[in-house]
Amino acid sequence: MAIFNLNINGKKQQVEVDPATPMLWVLRDHLQLVGTKYGCGIAQCGACTIHLEGQAMRSCQLPVSAVGEQAITTIEGLSEKGDHPVQKAWLEHDVPQCGYCQAGQIMTAAALLNSNPDPSEEEIETAMNGNICRCGTYLRIKAAVKTAAAS
Ligand code: FES
Ligand code: FES
Repeated sequence: MAIFNLNINGKKQQVEVDPATPMLWVLRDHLQLVGTKYGCGIAQCGACTIHLEGQAMRSCQLPVSAVGEQAITTIEGLSEKGDHPVQKAWLEHDVPQCGYCQAGQIMTAAALLNSNPDPSEEEIETAMNGNICRCGTYLRIKAAVKTAAAS
């Protein structure tokens, strides 16, 4: 066990955990930030996507010991009132079906628009490609990313 001082959603958070603990479980089990979901645990589905210094990152394969003071953002901290342009576009297009994958989808889309505010169709497909949706909401996801980019 070791103590880690983390910077999560703009707040300092201290946890005492095994250094190998994936951030996914630090967030969910120690900080009750359960919007970040467990899908595969092996960086293959995107359900656990968070931002590390604004970049999309799979928290299931990110040990807490690798984070340091880098800024982490989870779906709970993406906006104060759920009004990030990506979240607004998601509502407009009524994207979610069961909803399980959607926090990861939104975090991936928001990171894409951070680094590329006007992505081409191909760039959207490439960025979103690794986020699996078992409900098949892919067409609405793509449309919502385009709307968010245009807003
Ligand atoms: S749970 Fe992390 S990528 Fe699937
Ligand atoms: S909305 Fe059900 S898994 Fe994506």
